[in-house]
Amino acid sequence: MSNEPKALDPRLAAVRVLNRVLPGSGDGASLREVLRAQPLEGGQAGGLMRDLCFGVCRHLRPLNQWLNEQLQKPLQASAQPVRLALLCGLYELWFSERPAHAVVNAYPELCRGLQAPWASGLVNALLRKASRLTAEQAFADYKEPVRLALPGWLWKQWQQDWPDQATAIGEASLAPPPFGLRVNRLRLTREHALATLGEGARAGTLAPWSLYLSPPRPVAALPGFEQGDFSVQDEAAQLPAEYLHVPDQGRVLDACAAPGGKTGQILEAWPGARVTALDLSGARLARVAQNLTRLGAGAELVRGDVTDPAGWWDGEPFDAILLDAPCSATGILRRQPDVKWHRRREDLPVLADLQARMLDALWPLLRPGGTLVYATCSMIRAENDQQITAFLARTGDAVDETPRPADAPAVSAGWQLLPEDNGPDGFYLACLRKREATA
Ligand SMILES: C[S@@+](CC[C@H](N)C(=O)[O-])C[C@H]1O[C@@H](n2cnc3c(N)ncnc32)[C@H](O)[C@@H]1O
Repeated sequence: MSNEPKALDPRLAAVRVLNRVLPGSGDGASLREVLRAQPLEGGQAGGLMRDLCFGVCRHLRPLNQWLNEQLQKPLQASAQPVRLALLCGLYELWFSERPAHAVVNAYPELCRGLQAPWASGLVNALLRKASRLTAEQAFADYKEPVRLALPGWLWKQWQQDWPDQATAIGEASLAPPPFGLRVNRLRLTREHALATLGEGARAGTLAPWSLYLSPPRPVAALPGFEQGDFSVQDEAAQLPAEYLHVPDQGRVLDACAAPGGKTGQILEAWPGARVTALDLSGARLARVAQNLTRLGAGAELVRGDVTDPAGWWDGEPFDAILLDAPCSATGILRRQPDVKWHRRREDLPVLADLQARMLDALWPLLRPGGTLVYATCSMIRAENDQQITAFLARTGDAVDETPRPADAPAVSAGWQLLPEDNGPDGFYLACLRKREATA
């Protein structure tokens, strides 16, 4: 008999991950963090586990509603793993290409691994019933926020903020995200990168160094990735750094820098710049260091609080500042679908207050004539144009110089990008120039 440890069933692994992440019995951990710590990483099994985790988080609300409607008596709280197994099964039946009979057979067996053999019959019966339906049929009568798998508070907020676009935003937030890359301009041209990646690669239309690759590939399979030829980064997230203006040898502050996606981009665009990458989290700053090492770039890494420059600023003004502020992440729900179930309406005023204090704290550090680019991956106007409009109203020497395209949604300041299927994430940026003093 082999002494090899028995491989962990990917479906069982998914249930365990979801049990930590989702409200119920879990501790509300972030899906990405829990997956990062999983032993079951690559290969087909890892792919299945990840697909189940992301898929269930993405479609949680209608899946749960259908399940609740079928149960004659509710499942007890202690049966949360059985509920999660059922949700995984429903997701697989309705949103994956895997054969229905294989899915229906896999989950009753899984109940034994969950120490819940009593649930095998129930799981078998429910999945058989579901296998005769499509998601469209199962969800046909559901109200819009349920069908779009959104928490009620967020749906209401989007209806208020985006009365004409709320449904489209919800639909784009449900689709799996595209795989976006940034080409390292110091190492190759975008045309060369497109040719190297071959079939399935296309250029982004907004950010000059962005590419999409479909189907996605593991980064290790991208030629030159380890040497720094590419970084994984959404097209919209590439825009803020492109709009900085950095003079030769200029001094740049990347506030809220970790894990360093934009720090690397700044150094690719202005290799001679003196870049300070600031973040509150030491653990996350370590990831900035790793990213920069791969790109062969260097920055000064500083642990500090943006709202308290006295704790870290040496007094020399910055020529350019990027503030990629902590936010609700409501523009990237397709990438981080668990955020829908973690975030609360009460978080919004707290985040908006922090963002305002960050803007006010950084503005005096900017040299007159310099530019501060404010960015969020939020689809909530209080964090975006309303935040910047209020900042402009209280800051006499700030001018909004955001290059907003004519077809962008109408907002009071800056540029709001809506999430697009096979296109950019939901994102916001504002380019704020500091007026030179007049004599
Ligand atoms: C949106 S993420 C930044 C992403 C990063 N710019 C990139 O492109 O990879 C926000 C970051 O803000 C940091 N942060 C939150 N509050 C902060 C504060 N008061 N001072 C400094 N950094 C803070 C978080 O640790 C987190 O790394």
